[in-house]
Amino acid sequence: MSANDDRDPLFRYDDPVFADERLLEITHLPGPDRIVGRDEQMQRVADALNPAIFGSEPNHLFIFGKTGTGKSLISRSVTKRVISEAERDNVTVKYAFIDCGEQNTEASIIKTIAQLVNEPGDSGVSIPDRGLGTGDYYKRLWQAVDRCTDVTIVILDEIDMLEDDEVLRKLSRAGENRRISNSSIGIIGISNKIDFPDHLSERVKSSLSRDELVFSPYDANQLVEILEKRQDAFHDGVLSDDVIPLTAALAAQEHGDARKAIDILRNAGRIAKKQNATRVTANHVRDAKEKTEADRFNELIEGSPQQAKAILYSLTLLTENSTQKEFPTKIIYNQYKEVARQLDFDVLSERRVQEILQEQNFLNVIQSEREGRGRGRGAHAKHRLLENPSIVKKVLLRDSRLAVLEETE
Ligand SMILES: Nc1ncnc2c1ncn2[C@@H]1O[C@H](COP(=O)(O)OP(=O)(O)OP(=O)(O)O)[C@@H](O)[C@H]1O
Ligand SMILES: [Mg+2]
Repeated sequence: MSANDDRDPLFRYDDPVFADERLLEITHLPGPDRIVGRDEQMQRVADALNPAIFGSEPNHLFIFGKTGTGKSLISRSVTKRVISEAERDNVTVKYAFIDCGEQNTEASIIKTIAQLVNEPGDSGVSIPDRGLGTGDYYKRLWQAVDRCTDVTIVILDEIDMLEDDEVLRKLSRAGENRRISNSSIGIIGISNKIDFPDHLSERVKSSLSRDELVFSPYDANQLVEILEKRQDAFHDGVLSDDVIPLTAALAAQEHGDARKAIDILRNAGRIAKKQNATRVTANHVRDAKEKTEADRFNELIEGSPQQAKAILYSLTLLTENSTQKEFPTKIIYNQYKEVARQLDFDVLSERRVQEILQEQNFLNVIQSEREGRGRGRGAHAKHRLLENPSIVKKVLLRDSRLAVLEETE
């Protein structure tokens, strides 16, 4: 595309690198022909949802798997196909996609589902943003579901972040308890914690019958294929031949993570563009890998308190200065005391440090394992950093209170 003469020369209208960058955005839902290596999983999701196309109650389904294995993608993709298939027989299927990381209270989840399925003209109810108690939101949800849909599919992504699983019980029992009579609800719960069902309350565990499905990581060849099917995000000839294989190999290093592969490829394009390069090369990919990991890590810890960052920094120092990777709480604590002193922080108790390490474990920033059959919760745990220490350090030093550590090195 060439710029028009009457365009404001202050802006650029042609992108020398990307033809359509949106294809690489996380919110983009690729069509079925761009989805690689998930036929079996798609079939299992379709089997669970199949009754919905006749207006009957689907089976509930839990999906597990590590990050970037296509759980959200496959759930959304199959659900959309169910909706259009049902439409052909005048069956109204609607869906609500809830990210429980952003919305984790019962009231906000119920309100969001209600707002997504409701059509005030048909239901005669409105779903205000605020002002109703949880019970009233439920009442309106049942009305909206009953009057505006034949089947509602509720996708609860990152379901392990739910504050209280009561919402699962109410949704799964709505028909049985005659909250709704003309309609039904199917739940898809998604988590990257494989032991998630163990954490459900007994009430929910026993009342929620469901199918379960595990997504395994991709291998490097599958990642290559996934990337090849998105390469029209770039103009012809922009990608050097080694870019896709290298990106796939880097993204397969820990576990075959398609999210990481796509993020690296997009960042490589952005870095090339910033440098006014017309080709994306292996060097752009390597820089992009570092940027992608730093961004991801930043996302995980940016909300953490400064004390937690100081503790992580201590673990990073230990990791850098040793051939070992795993360190007992006690050793981390000794290093932390030193760091806290340098930072002029109050020195927390060892017990508190242990608790914070456990929280970080939950955030997938570090991995903690109990040594042997240690007594006392976690007192004998060992901790290891899950990211490259140089990246962790860089991100931690972005915090202005920690930045002083850089000078003392
Ligand atoms: N089989 C696939 N074919 C094509 N693209 C894929 C495939 N699997 C994943 N992707 C792409 O990789 C990215 C990550 O996928 P998705 O968000 O579904 O992962 P996830 O398993 O939900 O990860 P997380 O646990 O981190 O939420 C998305 O951009 C998605 O489009
Ligand atoms: Mg997901």
